[in-house]
Amino acid sequence: SPFDIGVVGLGVMGANIALNLASHGTRVAGYNHTSEKAEAFSRRATNELGSSGVAIGSSDLPAFIRSLGTPRILLLMVPAAAVDEVLDELGAYLQPGDIVIDGGNSHYPDTERRLKQLAAQGLHFIGMGISGGESGARHGPSMMPGGEEAAWRHLRPLLEPAAAIATDGKPCVAWMGSGGAGHFVKMVHNGIEYAIMQLIAEVYDLLHRGGGLDNAHLHHLFASWREGPLASYLVEITADILIQPDDLGTGALLDRIRDQAGQKGTGRWTSEAAFDLGVPTPSIDAAVSARGLSGYYAERQHASRHLSGPLSTSPDSLQARLAGALEAGMLLAYAQGLHLISAANATYGYGTSQATVAHIWRGGCIIRAGMLETLAEAYVRNGHSANPIFEPGIAQRLGTLESDLRAVVAQGALGGIPLPAFSATLAYYDAWRSARLPANLTQAQRDYFGSHTYERLDRDGRFHTHWTQGGQAPGA
Ligand code: 6PG
Repeated sequence: SPFDIGVVGLGVMGANIALNLASHGTRVAGYNHTSEKAEAFSRRATNELGSSGVAIGSSDLPAFIRSLGTPRILLLMVPAAAVDEVLDELGAYLQPGDIVIDGGNSHYPDTERRLKQLAAQGLHFIGMGISGGESGARHGPSMMPGGEEAAWRHLRPLLEPAAAIATDGKPCVAWMGSGGAGHFVKMVHNGIEYAIMQLIAEVYDLLHRGGGLDNAHLHHLFASWREGPLASYLVEITADILIQPDDLGTGALLDRIRDQAGQKGTGRWTSEAAFDLGVPTPSIDAAVSARGLSGYYAERQHASRHLSGPLSTSPDSLQARLAGALEAGMLLAYAQGLHLISAANATYGYGTSQATVAHIWRGGCIIRAGMLETLAEAYVRNGHSANPIFEPGIAQRLGTLESDLRAVVAQGALGGIPLPAFSATLAYYDAWRSARLPANLTQAQRDYFGSHTYERLDRDGRFHTHWTQGGQAPGA
């Protein structure tokens, strides 16, 4: 009998997701253009699934396509840069009604372009973000599909059993909306991932480099956060990382890793989208910049000998504050990402439900965390608020945490430890609670030098002033 789904690309993510699908009763055909990978996949499928599943690899494209039922469902698990080429290659074999899913980290404008191209050929295109890394792909990822909604009823029975399961037993996969919604939501997931990783790195820096605490001490701190309000995957893996010994026997592996962060672009795309849509996401922006700055490795070695300043913090007074500061930072990072999704909805008409996004991020993905439950509940309670910090329950929680955030940022500033994500997050919080911001002065300056006009608080309309040019620069 025909296969239910064809997975194109049997690299790490492709092979694992294919085996995951097959282990839940889906009949999976895998395709890879190199026969070694296809054969290795078939062998691994036999080993891991035995008689309980059907998954076969092939490097014969026409035969692979012929083996699929109709409509054909193809899941592309290829690098984002290869998607167009693979779509071209597949094009000749597909027929109207077939469903093509891009399961990679594609940029959402590419997904929207491809959706239109394929729709013109009668094909249903789905952009689906998949999070959870290698082990998530095999044992239960969080999946964010969006695009041609007519295809969802075909995909749902295949994807739901393979997804991670949240605490309430619900699968961590749901329809994200039209157009590029699936890849947009996954991009924002990664932006939040960048922000939380940076916040955690700042906690480490403040206590380790600033406060002189060793890795074992930090391990205990992070391990103590595994339960409670900070419960999250990224906190958990940090606790593990802190006590990982070096294979080469030089002590803690972490101390030997070069402090230069890589990035494949999804964090930057999130900030770019936020700028395009006019949504403030300063914690994410700060995390992207921090990775960028870390890349100037040689320059930092040089500058560190010339730029003076303090370097020490007091770990004792800080530790009690850090849990609260990190919780506030994480909550506000999620808030920024969800706000961005709501703006994308308004502009692109995706129809994404923020509550659903928070729900499917509760399990399987890299940013899974207990507090997503709280955020999801806040949306359910509060209807369609753009930003969850406007919801009274979340606002109240932030009110109890803000002094910790403030104390941590102050310590970093006084002690000379850079806290770009914490600082940006605190400023974000303080800006929202400011009924009056200094944008009145910005408007006055714009009107002064460019006649850009301003609005008044006490009268309707737009105004322009002939500013008195009385001031003279000193020495002019
Ligand atoms: C996930 C991850 C995954 C990948 C990131 C890494 O959700 O499983 O986010 O998609 O690990 O793309 O991104 P950088 O290489 O940019 O850090």
